[in-house]
Amino acid sequence: MDEPPVESADVDVNVDVHRRRWLIATSVATGLGSVAAAIPFAESLSPPASALAAGAPVKADISQLTVGAMMTVAWRGKPVFIVDRSPAMLDGVVKAASMVADPDTSNPFSMPLPDYCRNAFRSRADHRNILVVIGVCTHLGCTPIPRFEPGAQPNLPDDWPGGFLCPCHGSTYDLAGRVFRDKPAPQNLDVPRYMFVSSTELLIGRDEHGDA
Ligand code: FES
Repeated sequence: MDEPPVESADVDVNVDVHRRRWLIATSVATGLGSVAAAIPFAESLSPPASALAAGAPVKADISQLTVGAMMTVAWRGKPVFIVDRSPAMLDGVVKAASMVADPDTSNPFSMPLPDYCRNAFRSRADHRNILVVIGVCTHLGCTPIPRFEPGAQPNLPDDWPGGFLCPCHGSTYDLAGRVFRDKPAPQNLDVPRYMFVSSTELLIGRDEHGDA
């Protein structure tokens, strides 16, 4: 049987640039009439439209991803956040467990949590520092902003353990993509199927069990 296609995605570790791009992409996704506005962005990623439509898995080169940083790749027209969490950030995940609404992801959003991510860090055990989540807020679909620095700061509680803030209605997620209690968003960020094909290359949308 032929192997399904795999696309390579350009990546960018600059959060601000990505946020701008994803805001464009998100607005485009809400209306086909705005497709023309997405052309420069789509060309920068260079995936064939037919492959995207089919939901082909996407390769992500994480060799330039530094500890504590995030990069974003496109998969099925959505941003996928990849974060290399530092030991302090993993401590933040542990701290947040008592503050999030669904610590075990008993009620996933649009796809099941892969079994290999059913653990305290929602990541693969052999690379537990690497977080892979869909960057789409489970409330109304805005793109959350990284707010990795812990502690008191504008729009966040004094005991903030680090995570993501949705700019639309204030939902917050921890550094495992779990939504905090009493927020508009009802569920955790999705974790797609993914696997490591080398120590520096991820495949998003496929794992040992097949495609998502
Ligand atoms: S879309 Fe994120 S809080 Fe409403």
